[in-house]
Amino acid sequence: MPEQINRQIVLASRPVGYPKESDFKLIETELPRADEGEVVVRAIWLSLDPYMRGRLNDVQSYAPAVEIGGVMVGGVAGEVVESRSPAYKVGDIVQGPLGWQEYAVSDGRNLAIVDRSLGPLSTFMGVLGMPGMTAYFGLLDVGSPEPGDTVVVSAASGAVGQVVGQIARIMGCRVVGLAGSAQKTDFLINDLGFDAAINYRTDNVESALDANCPDGIDVYFDNVGGYITDAVLERINTFARISVCGQISQYNLEEPELAPRNLRFLIVNQARMEGFLVTKFAARFDEARKRMSKWMATGQLRYREDVVDGLEKAPGALIGMMTGENFGKLLVKVSEE
Ligand SMILES: NC(=O)c1ccc[n+]([C@@H]2O[C@H](COP(=O)([O-])OP(=O)(O)OC[C@H]3O[C@@H](n4cnc5c(N)ncnc54)[C@H](OP(=O)(O)O)[C@@H]3O)[C@@H](O)[C@H]2O)c1
Repeated sequence: MPEQINRQIVLASRPVGYPKESDFKLIETELPRADEGEVVVRAIWLSLDPYMRGRLNDVQSYAPAVEIGGVMVGGVAGEVVESRSPAYKVGDIVQGPLGWQEYAVSDGRNLAIVDRSLGPLSTFMGVLGMPGMTAYFGLLDVGSPEPGDTVVVSAASGAVGQVVGQIARIMGCRVVGLAGSAQKTDFLINDLGFDAAINYRTDNVESALDANCPDGIDVYFDNVGGYITDAVLERINTFARISVCGQISQYNLEEPELAPRNLRFLIVNQARMEGFLVTKFAARFDEARKRMSKWMATGQLRYREDVVDGLEKAPGALIGMMTGENFGKLLVKVSEE
């Protein structure tokens, strides 16, 4: 191993509202060594994801909070640099929840060997990774799109949203995306083939939905919640499906908003609104990855990545994601492949 220190980012304090850089701390520790049955992994790519904001709060959720002083949680793709496990050899490329650190020890149970024939390594953090799986199953299994349906997706240029929109197009749907800048809406239409895009920061969301969804909305893939979701619910069709994936507009609020209050639209339209966690579909990830890899090869499924260089940039990049600074799947390049 080339260096004798490990750099890690730990949680220094629990943020109130939007996180600050001072809530995180970069520390240097000894390079970890593998005990019997363990491996040491050198991180190459670290995925930054909105769920990390929830792990900063000490509240009951589907996953435990990061402890103060604990290494930040995060998905990593990396290389096995030391192995005392029969399941892995030095040089294997693996992925797993190894956290914000340059080197991590694992007993191997939370690791998977990456099938590099399916796509570049970074895509296992994005389109072929957790966000891509979220898009695939959240749209196809929860949203149940039919050809000709109008599908609306929020945070549409992000890691999940860009994949949702393109899969909906592959399924023969009309796709309308919402995003937070003109560059992002241009990208949705010109690079990803969305039928229409709405800049929710400058457009009137209600009238833009009316103009761009003349036949109403059959499927809504909700990444953001808040007033965008309110506006969509008022425009759903009979038997609409609302796939509740994320509520990023709410994650940094100090006081929760009082909503929803317009659920009568679910009654009169006999609509279904369903939340999900991507982990529900874990047994089918391989099937999805193979199908999506084929779409990538034929150019039907594209992806945009937003790469920041160096572990020390991770806190600032995660904070930026909460205000839309990222454009595409946000990744930290921790070291060279
Ligand atoms: N249910 C699951 O299992 C699961 C799994 C993965 C992700 N998710 C959820 O899926 C959503 C998207 O995740 P991602 O990884 O693809 O992130 P992402 O879209 O790549 O990045 C987050 C984006 O959210 C938008 N945003 C931030 N604050 C906003 C606000 N107040 N109102 C509206 N939009 C806002 C920003 O884009 P704009 O510039 O367009 O505003 C930002 O770029 C998140 O809510 C996440 O929690 C759920």
